[in-house]
Amino acid sequence: MDTRTRGPSDDGGIEGEELRSFLERVRAALSLEDLESVRVALLGRRGLLSEKLRALGALPPSERAARGERLNGFRREFESALADRRRALEESASEGRLRAAAVDVTLPGRGRRPGSVHPLSRAIDDILRIFQARGFVPVDGPEIEDEEHNFTALNIPPEHPARALHDTFYVPGGRLLRTHTSPVQIRSLEDEGPPLRVLAVGRVYRRDADVTHMPMFHQVEGLWVDEGVSFAVLKGLLTDALQEFFARELPVRFRPSYFPFTEPSAEVDVGCVFCDGKGCRVCKGSGWLEVLGSGLVHPALYRRLGIDPARWSGLAFGLGVERLTMLRDRVSDIRYFYDNDLRFLRSPRGESYVCD
Ligand code: DAH
Repeated sequence: MDTRTRGPSDDGGIEGEELRSFLERVRAALSLEDLESVRVALLGRRGLLSEKLRALGALPPSERAARGERLNGFRREFESALADRRRALEESASEGRLRAAAVDVTLPGRGRRPGSVHPLSRAIDDILRIFQARGFVPVDGPEIEDEEHNFTALNIPPEHPARALHDTFYVPGGRLLRTHTSPVQIRSLEDEGPPLRVLAVGRVYRRDADVTHMPMFHQVEGLWVDEGVSFAVLKGLLTDALQEFFARELPVRFRPSYFPFTEPSAEVDVGCVFCDGKGCRVCKGSGWLEVLGSGLVHPALYRRLGIDPARWSGLAFGLGVERLTMLRDRVSDIRYFYDNDLRFLRSPRGESYVCD
């Protein structure tokens, strides 16, 4: 056959087939990297065609021209196929990039979920603000207490039955987890002495757990000692503070009670916030909810600390933060405060937390 009449790669031999398979690989390349590896396999320094071209030099001149023409013809064909494929791949790559970068203006926005202050922190902030506005200064006391401050100095001697009312967690070394914030009264009187007006907020611990009790909860303790602090002052202070906390003109009543560290003592009730005093399940039909304990500081506390009860008088009160928050924000189970369930934490204030 006359070689000049044949196309450059028109070789039916095995070599032609092998070279032609590279053309197919070029057309099938799915990426620029694929394409480059086909090119290197054929035309790279150690590529198949490069080696064949290099080998031409060793052929007799009579064969060299024809074979050289055929191999170079194939190389041109291969190079033009490469260029075509490269263009096509580059085009679709840039199209893909454009498509990927496109903004779908019909998608809903991602939005932002604002965080919020935990309901208990919110209540504590409110209580602090309410009492600071009335001259109370925040103070702290230890959560691990001794019996002296938690009980004895509060007029609860070892054999006193009130000790049994507090289901106390004792810790090694004779100390205990404070069962109330009242020991901070003693510490403040020891540290500062009268006159003083302090407010202690903090954790307290009791062996107790159900829908309305946790082994750890928060109390607020107030103590105001000065000359002439009377029961009338106590009534006015707590009535105003409770109405401000609940943001309503709730009825407030003082009911005679007993605490070892106050005399006289009173428990304070507010008109039921669930039924407006008509009587319901929460207030057990009474129309009233008990919200705190209070009284005038017992003279025995002053005497023990060397403070003159004839000169100084004082009021004290203690309240449970969880209970007050449950009533204000209508939380049906104390454990919601500690579950970290976002459905609860996201409920806006005042909405019912009675979720499931
Ligand atoms: N410490 C009391 C308790 O945990 C609450 C209390 C009652 C505190 C009367 C007071 C008070 O300061 O005057 O049950």
